[in-house]
Amino acid sequence: MKIAFCLTFLLSAALAANIKITPTVDSKDIEIPESFDARTNWPECSKLISEIADCGACDTEWAVAVASAASDRRCIASGGSLQVPVSAANLMSCCTQCGGDMKKAWNYWAKNGIVTGGRYQSDLGCIPYTASMCDHFYQVRETECFNQFCIQPECTGTCATKSGLNYTNELTYGESRAETFETVEDIQREILQNGPVTASIEKFVDFPFYREGIYYHASGKSIGGHSLRLLGWGTENNEAYWIAANAWNEDWGEKGIIRIRRGVNECNIESGVYAAKPKL
Ligand SMILES: *[C@@H]1O[C@H](CO)[C@@H](O)[C@H](O)[C@H]1NC(C)=O
Repeated sequence: MKIAFCLTFLLSAALAANIKITPTVDSKDIEIPESFDARTNWPECSKLISEIADCGACDTEWAVAVASAASDRRCIASGGSLQVPVSAANLMSCCTQCGGDMKKAWNYWAKNGIVTGGRYQSDLGCIPYTASMCDHFYQVRETECFNQFCIQPECTGTCATKSGLNYTNELTYGESRAETFETVEDIQREILQNGPVTASIEKFVDFPFYREGIYYHASGKSIGGHSLRLLGWGTENNEAYWIAANAWNEDWGEKGIIRIRRGVNECNIESGVYAAKPKL
């Protein structure tokens, strides 16, 4: 009787929690190449995938990473016909419950939707980005980010007046909630099949000053979390790396890209990977 009760209890608990077991990838058989780069693999979306964002004076790398990866995925899934990006500005101003958490941001996309919107002054989509480019740690631009204010749109449910677009009609959605990928191979298969994913990392004091090469944390203490978009991987001099896009414009790193050690969970890069498929 005890066992019967236990089973019933477990079953109802599982039903109540709406537990659904879904495979994290479509196929375990897909072969993983030595190197891969989403920018060259999908030439019809290369322009979009290659675009390096600038979060400006806002600490909104999380919103930029999710919106950019969502844009890439819509383009890829549509065979290149959906080229207008998903708005990072809309995500950062409307998802107040996100708190910088990219898993929540992907879930928000599925549940609430995010309107279209390109980069700052692009006049593209419903809500283009609202903060201007600035200098992130390199001192190559006149306007330093720390001297600027973060300019965010209000979450009003309307498109930028200039766009002339209808907010409801401009909403894009994720097909399902955030999926997570827990091994290097699972992350690779997901990028191979559906395009870029987002990764959170622990940011150490040496990270902002990265210039080139394959990054690993060498010195200094942690200064919090950071968000990146993973575009692919490769190997150089026997060292495996991820290709990750940052949101600090093209002055930073290798034209906006940082290559990070792969396979050793460097800065926890392999333990906070999320993405969702787009709803077309
Ligand atoms: C926007 O589009 C929706 C759905 O097509 C429509 O119901 C709504 O009235 C439109 N809003 C405006 C302000 O035109």
